[in-house]
Amino acid sequence: MKVVSSAVGVQEISRRYRGNGLKIGLVPTMGWFHEGHLALMKEARNHADKVIVSLFVNPIQFGPSEDFDSYPHDLERDCKLAEEVGVDVLYAPNKELMYPDGFSTTVHIEGLASGLCGGDRPGHFDGVTTVVSKLFNQTLPHVAVFGEKDFQQLAVIRQLVRDLDFPIEIIGHPIVREKSGLAMSSRNSYLKKDEMTAAHSLSKGIASGRKLALEKKEVSVREIKKTVAGVILTHPECDIDYIEVVDQVTLQNCKYVTSDSMLVLAVTINKRIRLIDNSKIRNGR
Ligand code: PAJ
Repeated sequence: MKVVSSAVGVQEISRRYRGNGLKIGLVPTMGWFHEGHLALMKEARNHADKVIVSLFVNPIQFGPSEDFDSYPHDLERDCKLAEEVGVDVLYAPNKELMYPDGFSTTVHIEGLASGLCGGDRPGHFDGVTTVVSKLFNQTLPHVAVFGEKDFQQLAVIRQLVRDLDFPIEIIGHPIVREKSGLAMSSRNSYLKKDEMTAAHSLSKGIASGRKLALEKKEVSVREIKKTVAGVILTHPECDIDYIEVVDQVTLQNCKYVTSDSMLVLAVTINKRIRLIDNSKIRNGR
């Protein structure tokens, strides 16, 4: 596996791959790999001859009071894991290279990026769409794989690619969970032992909402949200940022529960650890 830290370097490799008729798959990440990230890398391999993984903790997608400074980072550890799943290139640029003095462009998406996590984290998706646009131009992929765990992010990226005509196929990968149901996340590493039970309430809440929808044909959005909140709020460590039932494409709030409705939620544990999760309500995962 090649480890590259410069944009020019990775672009040169990609140009060479393209010149040899090879298909390139990109998996953008912020590192501290877990099975969710590794599943995306394996998925990229199913669609491409060469897999490039970017690892960059992107400062501009973190708010001033968020966890940029404490975000887990260990390049050596991540290199080993990426190599084990057959990644060809690990692209790990530094902050100065990504955002040199004078950098002044923002890619901003209206609508889709403004509610849910965008509402709680102003500027977050501007940071994501700006860095992902740069990563696309630096690595020149044919396909890029994103996780459905960040459901809104995936929708925003699809919009970005449509609007800016990036010739890239976007592939969504289902959420990878612990046996307990907890969605894997680099931020789970912040959880102390006694906070684990509270963290599990996200997937448990979702499961109870899905169960209700299964049992009751005419269930209302309000009932679903109340049931999910009930499970989560049995844990005093949990503050609910949002629980919403939204259309899976537009991310607009649903009036009624349909087969296209998604349950999406964000919860902060002990005012420190913000976790997200989601699921189709009626069928699917
Ligand atoms: P990061 O949180 O490192 O996630 C990288 C990719 O892994 C994202 O596409 C995310 O949805 C996916 N992922 C994380 N946990 C997952 C899980 N349990 N199951 C499936 N996929 C999972 O998302 C980002 O980084 C950044 O915002 C980024 C897109 C790299 C831009 O900076």
